[in-house]
Amino acid sequence: MLTLDYANCLSDRVGAHGVDPDRLDPDGDGARGVTRLTRSLAKSRSTPAEQGGWEVWRNLPLPPLRDQYLSAVTKLVARFKARASNLVVLGIGGSALGNIALQGALNPYNYNLLPDNKRPGPRLFVVDNVDPAYFASVIEACLQTDPSLERTIFNIVSKSGETAETAAQFMIIRDLLGKHRGPKAAEHVVAITDVAKGTMRKICDAEGYSTLPVPDGVGGRFSVLSPVGLFSAAMCGIDAAALLDGAASMDTPCSRETLLENPAAMLAFLLVELGTRNGKTNHVLMPYRNALYLLADWFRQLWAESLGKKSDLNGETVYAGFTPIKALGTTDQHSQVQLYREGPNDKVIGFVDVAPGGPGDPALHDDLAIPAGLGVEAIRYLEGRRMAELLAAEKRATEYALVESQRPNFTITFPKLDAFHVGQFIHLWEVATSYAGLMLGINTYDQPAVELGKQATFGLMGRPGYEKHKSAVARTLTPSRWVIGR
Ligand code: PA5
Repeated sequence: MLTLDYANCLSDRVGAHGVDPDRLDPDGDGARGVTRLTRSLAKSRSTPAEQGGWEVWRNLPLPPLRDQYLSAVTKLVARFKARASNLVVLGIGGSALGNIALQGALNPYNYNLLPDNKRPGPRLFVVDNVDPAYFASVIEACLQTDPSLERTIFNIVSKSGETAETAAQFMIIRDLLGKHRGPKAAEHVVAITDVAKGTMRKICDAEGYSTLPVPDGVGGRFSVLSPVGLFSAAMCGIDAAALLDGAASMDTPCSRETLLENPAAMLAFLLVELGTRNGKTNHVLMPYRNALYLLADWFRQLWAESLGKKSDLNGETVYAGFTPIKALGTTDQHSQVQLYREGPNDKVIGFVDVAPGGPGDPALHDDLAIPAGLGVEAIRYLEGRRMAELLAAEKRATEYALVESQRPNFTITFPKLDAFHVGQFIHLWEVATSYAGLMLGINTYDQPAVELGKQATFGLMGRPGYEKHKSAVARTLTPSRWVIGR
């Protein structure tokens, strides 16, 4: 089980910058409030999507949804894997960040560079942008190894099908496949989209693509443990069942009514308390393993888009939310920690750590030793030590240095870096986000502020019905004389 060590968030370690341990008293207001929220979440998780429920994601790792989606994913993986050397995922936001994070956490850094017979699946490219140079370079990489695209599969992930970025990518790919694969083009597409409605569903039906569902009641940023994240993961050799088992095992502690025994409630409670009462409105996630770095990107979207809301559920203007920041240890000790220790005391730093790997954890390479023999006095202390020892010492030293500056921080430790514990980590943060949303009194599952930019883009790109957005952009962004260098 993952552990959460939050001692450094409390006032006995970081003075007035921390939470008073009395706030955690089981008979106090704080803890009793959490018990009420736990009961409310127990109800809302079982509200079906048809009745407006948005917490279906909470049940994805549990039967019957677990078996339903896992078996659908497994069937398609069995059909596509043997004939794929390249898998290109087209999606953005919640339709891409989870896929990227799973691959980063659970496959080796050199995964795409391994020869076909050494890789547990096709090379994976998750293209979550419309930078043409980036997109073209991925297509070129596929064509270089597979000139007729015979062994290349495109996985389009879009719940709505109307996301401009994914739609543009899809249209280019459809054209490319038509040119290279002719009547067999549809055999190279797996689309993950809404079961019944939406633009992508219509396209899939018309083109005859293989599809997997984005389940109802599961928003993009909560969808990594649905087919959205599981298909590309399983194609690339990641144990999808273990991911779900890990998430299911985390659901039990995260359902406990007692604050002191519920890690998701505790994470949310501390971060919301520190954010709203102590002015710690910036929440850093700083893994001390490169493999976990992209999980911090996934967390960033979850925390930002779910909690950053202008209005609360009563319509009052609250400007809720915290700014999630990603950092990497030890790298950012030489970039960010100066600010974290001596800049504004407005952050909580969340470390993510993996317990030292034994011989059963070859992927961690924790036995990599620094050779003795150089004999230079200033760096002789490193001789014969393992690199992992240095990494662990630096994490502990940074934690200590932050406490010395009264900067609240906590540590989540993976006992082992594997799919089971990554599933636990994902579920932990998803449930913590649902608690934090309730604590802030906002709607965790919408993203109204994203709309205006989308509508303006439609207007600027000439979509009928959005002309007024085009004019509004022109009115607001009148030619400026406040430019240097023009
Ligand atoms: O979390 C979200 O809901 C968003 O990030 C969406 O995933 C993103 O906008 C992509 O939407 P769609 O899957 O409809 O293309």
